[in-house]
Amino acid sequence: MKQEENIIYFVTGNIHKFNEISVLFSKANIKYNLIQEEIKTIEIQANNIKEVASFKLNSIKGKINGSYFIEDAGFFVDIPLNGFPGVYSSYIMKTIGNKGILRLIDDFESTQAHFTSVIALYFKPYDKNFFFEGSVYGKVSETIRGSGGFGFDPIFLPDLMPSKTFAELSIEEKNKISHRGIAWTRFIKFLRENYI
Ligand code: IMP
Repeated sequence: MKQEENIIYFVTGNIHKFNEISVLFSKANIKYNLIQEEIKTIEIQANNIKEVASFKLNSIKGKINGSYFIEDAGFFVDIPLNGFPGVYSSYIMKTIGNKGILRLIDDFESTQAHFTSVIALYFKPYDKNFFFEGSVYGKVSETIRGSGGFGFDPIFLPDLMPSKTFAELSIEEKNKISHRGIAWTRFIKFLRENYI
C-alpha cells in the first residue's frame, strides 16, 4: 500500500490521457505532485459515463493510501447514431475503430457529436468521492485526419475549431477546449479550494 504526502495519484494505463493531464497539472500551480499509477480497475457496462467512473473509482479502494483519481470518457455520435458508441466507446474503438464509425454515416453535413469526460476523485482528507464533468460538441469528419491525440480524435471536428480534427491540434490546443480540459478546470478549482 502506498502512502505519500501531497501526492495525488492518477490511476490510468492510458499514457495519452496522462500526458494531457500532466500538461494541465504543471500549469496549475497547486501544491500536489501528480503520479501515474497503473492498478487494475473494474470497468462495468452502465448507462452513463459517471456510473462507469464511479464503479471504477470504488474498485481501487484500499489499494492506495492517499488521494487518487481516474478519468473516464466516451464519444457520442448524436446525429445520426443516437449517441452510439457512448458507453461502448472502448469496445467499438478496439473492434470497428474510426473506419467502422465513418462507414455508419452517410450524410456528414448533418452530423452532431460530443465527447464527455468524468474525473472521479477519492479525496482522502474528506474520505469522500467527488466528480467533475466536461463535454465538447462538434461534428464527425468525413475522413480520418491528423496524427496527434488518440482514440476518436482523428474523426472529431470541434465546433470551436471546425476546420481541424482533435488529432490535428497540439495537446495545449486540445486541452483548451476539450471535454477533459473542461472537467480538469473544475477539478483544479476543487483542489485549490480544498487544499489541506
Ligand atoms: P476510456 O475513458 O479510456 O474508457 O475511453 C473510452 C474510449 O474513448 C477509448 O477507446 C478511448 O480511446 C476513447 N477516448 C477517450 N478519451 C478520448 C479523447 O480525448 N479523444 C479521443 N478518444 C478518446
